[in-house]
Amino acid sequence: MTEQPTILTGIRANSELTLGNFLGALIPMVRLANTHSNNYHINIFTPDLHSIISDIDGELQQNIIKSLKNYLAAGLNLTENVHFYRQSHVPAHSELCWILNCVTSMGDLNRMTQYKDKSDGKDSVNVGIFDYPVLMAADILLYDAEYVPVGEDQFQHLELTRRVAEKFNKQYVDIFTLPVEPKKQVEFMQVGEAIRIRDLQNPEKKMSKSTKSENSKIMLTDTPEQVKKKIMSATTDSVGKISFDMFNQPGISNLLQIDALVNDMPLQDVISTWSGETHYGDLKQKVAEDVAAFLGEFQRKLATISDDEVLTLLQKGEIYANEVANAKLLEVQKAFHLR
Ligand code: TRP
Repeated sequence: MTEQPTILTGIRANSELTLGNFLGALIPMVRLANTHSNNYHINIFTPDLHSIISDIDGELQQNIIKSLKNYLAAGLNLTENVHFYRQSHVPAHSELCWILNCVTSMGDLNRMTQYKDKSDGKDSVNVGIFDYPVLMAADILLYDAEYVPVGEDQFQHLELTRRVAEKFNKQYVDIFTLPVEPKKQVEFMQVGEAIRIRDLQNPEKKMSKSTKSENSKIMLTDTPEQVKKKIMSATTDSVGKISFDMFNQPGISNLLQIDALVNDMPLQDVISTWSGETHYGDLKQKVAEDVAAFLGEFQRKLATISDDEVLTLLQKGEIYANEVANAKLLEVQKAFHLR
């Protein structure tokens, strides 16, 4: 059962995604899973114990279910190798985290930029924020996951995971598989350069959920009218001629990129169609219609998926996850003479 290698991904319980998150991260993950689920285990889990390092907005269980529904609605094929589970429902994660705490140095954790950013300027910081990367290492090492698709902001945590595993393997027993290094993870994803959908109002920046201006971002829940309004008012440039040039024409380039992705077409084809055209309004009109149709289709699928369906998948996945994780944990416990 565990002979096959594992691809593992941690999905934060956050159902409010932007079109940027969806096209840049979620869809590539679904593609990766669909092309590999015949010969890899695909572990898709919610790091709910990571969620509680800070106040949670909304209801955690509901958010977990909603965020997993996004994967199903985006077309994830449910083969028997696809496993959904919640971190807190597999107690081995917490236990391995504690054991790895005893192998990890304070100095290593002190260097983590996410911890530094999150604690910057605060008088009091909880230990969970500091220890976050060790729990993440446990999430990965329990399943011998080789591929762990994450964004650049998590590369440092992935490197730490490799370091902790290596140290453990050397000092105790050689039982952990190291996840491959971040650069190779990106190659495996085959997305080439990471896709970064830009803010519609400030196309030099990434589209982000936390941006205040509503017109800057498209949410997965937006209606066709909202989509049209936002795209028609997107910032462009004064060049007056369409070309793909992220540096001089980031707004126009962003629209071309979005259109390619929602139509599942090679970017180059979309660029050839529009290059040299001078009516920015025509491009906006087309992108607005295409995005509205794309989101409409997604929202229709989403509405057909019930909470029960996701809960059933979770329960099944958690049986699998506990079996694999407990077996690995037992080996670790034995190495420390805890068993
Ligand atoms: N830290 C990841 C993030 O913020 C979420 C996460 C937790 C994760 N544990 C993981 C991702 C293990 C991959 C593997 O996005």
